[in-house]
Amino acid sequence: MKLILPYNALTRRGAKSKQKLKTNNYINMAEKNFKRVLITSALPYANGPVHIGHLAGVYVPSDIYARYQRLRGRDVISVCGSDEHGVPITIKARKEGITPQDVVDRYHAIIKDAFQRLGMSFDIYSRTSSPTHRTTASDFFRKLYDEGKFIEQTSEQYYDEEAKTFLADRYIVGTCPRCQSEGAYGDQCEKCGSTLSPDELINPTSKLSGSTPVKKPTKHWYLPLDQYDAFLREWILEGHKEWKSNVYGQCKSWLDTGLQPRAVSRDLDWGIPVPVEGEEGKVLYVWFDAPIGYISATKDLTPDWEKYWKDDQTKMVHFIGKDNIVFHCIVFPSMLKAHGDYILPENVPANEFLNLEGDKISTSKNWAVWLHEYLDDFPGKEDVLRYVLCANAPETKDNDFTWKDFQARNNNELVAILGNFVNRALVLTKKYYGGAVPECGELTDYDRDTIAEMAGIKASLESNIENYRFREALKDAMSVARIGNKYLADTEPWKVVKSDPERVKTILNIALQITANITIAIEPFMPFSAEKILKMLAIEKLGWDNLGSMSLIAAGHQIGEPSLLFEKIEDDVIEKQLKRLEEIKKANAAAAAAEHVTEQKEECSFDDFQKMDIRVSTILEAEKIAKTKKLLKLTVDTGIDKRTIVSGIAEHFKPEELVGKQVLVLVNLAPREMKGVTSQGMILMAEDASGKLELLSPENKTNNGAIVG
Ligand code: 2FM
Ligand code: ZN
Repeated sequence: MKLILPYNALTRRGAKSKQKLKTNNYINMAEKNFKRVLITSALPYANGPVHIGHLAGVYVPSDIYARYQRLRGRDVISVCGSDEHGVPITIKARKEGITPQDVVDRYHAIIKDAFQRLGMSFDIYSRTSSPTHRTTASDFFRKLYDEGKFIEQTSEQYYDEEAKTFLADRYIVGTCPRCQSEGAYGDQCEKCGSTLSPDELINPTSKLSGSTPVKKPTKHWYLPLDQYDAFLREWILEGHKEWKSNVYGQCKSWLDTGLQPRAVSRDLDWGIPVPVEGEEGKVLYVWFDAPIGYISATKDLTPDWEKYWKDDQTKMVHFIGKDNIVFHCIVFPSMLKAHGDYILPENVPANEFLNLEGDKISTSKNWAVWLHEYLDDFPGKEDVLRYVLCANAPETKDNDFTWKDFQARNNNELVAILGNFVNRALVLTKKYYGGAVPECGELTDYDRDTIAEMAGIKASLESNIENYRFREALKDAMSVARIGNKYLADTEPWKVVKSDPERVKTILNIALQITANITIAIEPFMPFSAEKILKMLAIEKLGWDNLGSMSLIAAGHQIGEPSLLFEKIEDDVIEKQLKRLEEIKKANAAAAAAEHVTEQKEECSFDDFQKMDIRVSTILEAEKIAKTKKLLKLTVDTGIDKRTIVSGIAEHFKPEELVGKQVLVLVNLAPREMKGVTSQGMILMAEDASGKLELLSPENKTNNGAIVG
């Protein structure tokens, strides 16, 4: 649908009406008079738990959007589920000696449970190993196959002769042709983010056997994306200029580079079998079946599913991370277009990535804050995480999660502003009126200004959420509490109560109306807190249209018991999380060092070796050599004599740690002078690739002077 601007009419009118016309058109264009909303959230792979990167990028924004639409009373459904096919799942199963089904069963349960605990309000959380999905994806493929929408092609692909299998996607690794880093996969380099094909890898190696694969012919079906170029250009580049610039830009760049046919099948034994007789051993490519999962999830949700997928008055919005843009904006829409029965997404508000403490989140390196662990570590603080991840969402650029920021936002924003205001309004009402909402008397100018300010928030919140600016929307929601806080601070009911008790009734009535407004404004972002406040106010959930109203609670209504909404997070709690990350970093460095072993030195003769006189010795004294960073002066008992050795290990060991230790000493090394001290030998150490040093000691106490050889 393209909007034709009434250009001639505009030029004939005055400047004022020009402005008005433009605004109206813009609103109509954004709304397009949709009857219902279908929200999809990227189906997480069921080969690991979800982490804060997934949440900030996809699930927190999608839930805010879904809750907002529901509050507005719109016909909305939000669908999600586990993505249970693909090579990473089979690799994990092999590694653990279990079946792929075991893997997906385990993670589907973990993910589903964690989402639910975080308050994700999906109408259905389905899975792609479900029978509905198998049939839906299979029928989808078959329709395109029958209608000749695929290219059938036999080509040479990598084959592992030891494992006797073709090597799809992540079964093959090699050097990235773009950034030269090792360990790039056959479908993607995780270092530089490039999308790759196995043929592009330098020095390809099988992930299964470690052998060098050979090429063998195999038949596959390809979706000729190049044939959809004109459709995509018109639909995206012309028709969706309002998409986020990161999404629009990536689509443009794919289109400008030139689209190629894409294989939609794989040689694998895990997935949905290609529904073509005589083609055993081939399955649908995971990125062909996964987005169809949105359709099958809707089918599982409601028998009325077709109205969400086949009526162009449905506004479909895909929430995804930036690595999924090509699949949701180019590949899936081309599949939908080829199929012909389904609508296209209206928007794909993809986010960038969230980093953790300055480093890229990595599942394989365990560099993440895992949702299920957070929920265990921070019970009752679900909304704190939702708040911080939305406030810091990587909407326009990559962003960073730090535990210090998490603490600061909790303590300085949630506790000090939101929690403080709600608590003061409720506690004062209890104290002065036994919890009965006081009457609102005559308003002052300041009251009117405050009420007017409140009323303005609704429009801004709506515009920000409708346009996927959730960070700004959260600021709007919080500004309701900020206004309330300021109102109480400025009107000081605790002082005025002595001189003008009637005035305090009005102040607290207004404060309570603001509190009721908060339950609406924050619900999409912090549903648990909204619920808690409703309970404290003893009122039912309010709809969106009530936002801005100052008559949400009747005078005389009895409120419930006030309790603290948020608690301060102390330093030790944050230190514990930082310590955990530090340990992960150390473990990763050690693992990397263990993998990186320097090559063997050139051969030496037995006689050469025999020349070295290595003795068990005990360190008697150790002290730092002044004005040096690295040098220690050691006195050792070699069994032969007591002598001085200078060793460059001061950055690794404290002198007092060394005294009394038995070590191995090369005693016949030619003496050397260092910083004015003569060193008569060398302490032997093991040094790994990260530079970490270990002393070498006999396992049991041994006589000094014992010969090593
Ligand atoms: O990137 C991912 O985590 C994919 N599992 C997303 C799939 S989205 C959809 F197409 F199912
Ligand atoms: Zn790379």
